[in-house]
Amino acid sequence: MSETILTCENVGIKFGGLQAVSDFNLEIKEKELLGLIGPNGAGKTTVFNMITGVYAPTTGNIYLKDKKINGIKPYKLVDYGIARTFQNIRLFGYLSVLDNVKIACNKDMKYSIMQGMFRISKFWEEEFDINTRAMEILSIFGLDKYKRFSANALSYGDQRKLEIARAMATDPDLLLLDEPAAGMNPTETEELMETIRLIRDKFGITILLIEHDMKLVLGICERLMVLNYGKVLAQGDPIEVINNEQVINAYLGTGGA
Ligand SMILES: Nc1ncnc2c1ncn2[C@@H]1O[C@H](COP(=O)(O)OP(=O)(O)OP(=O)(O)O)[C@@H](O)[C@H]1O
Ligand SMILES: [Mg+2]
Repeated sequence: MSETILTCENVGIKFGGLQAVSDFNLEIKEKELLGLIGPNGAGKTTVFNMITGVYAPTTGNIYLKDKKINGIKPYKLVDYGIARTFQNIRLFGYLSVLDNVKIACNKDMKYSIMQGMFRISKFWEEEFDINTRAMEILSIFGLDKYKRFSANALSYGDQRKLEIARAMATDPDLLLLDEPAAGMNPTETEELMETIRLIRDKFGITILLIEHDMKLVLGICERLMVLNYGKVLAQGDPIEVINNEQVINAYLGTGGA
């Protein structure tokens, strides 16, 4: 039986008069691939923002394994093993593809400022290790050949992949992907599906995925949760969920997935 990695207990948040999320309960097991779906404005990104410490919930608690994490700052949560990508791509556009990933590897750097300034051997050893690691991660995404390009020069689909590569560089146990296929063409989406599956299978990373592309969602998610007006409308087996009448009425429409 795998262990629970993340628990949300009656989590809610209010922005002024708007109750964006309420009574949100979630338990994700290690290595699970869970989809969070629902209409625009349902509160999906807000759930990610609470899990990653961007917002502290107004009510309820969030636990990473046994550790309560509500209100802990995002940079600290990266050290605890939570990484994410953003709905709107947030890369360092003018930095190289390689540097975008190396920046995220730096949580493992141990050389001191003085060692770095004088470029002594410890600096070069760590620099070499980080370079190797960053290149390995880029190759998983087929981006190694673009290592010297500036991130801005990549296609939209490749920029989305680079965001995931950068999140992977922090060596997460839990990875949150916010609409990774947005703006991708069908071939890119298909490739992305394989890559997400590989990340989970090869690295044993737990994945929580927000996505509107139902082909992608149904292709990889083992369990689905549907949010609507900040509340969980349905959850469970993906096929059962997409055939749920309330889900069809609120989100999928009669055209189906
Ligand atoms: N910082 C904020 N201040 C005020 N309202 C906010 C804030 N963040 C989100 N909201 C509101 O909370 C609700 C949920 O927004 P959220 O971005 O979580 O939806 P979503 O499910 O991710 O939608 P989409 O599919 O369009 O990305 C919306 O009504 C949104 O306007
Ligand atoms: Mg969103």
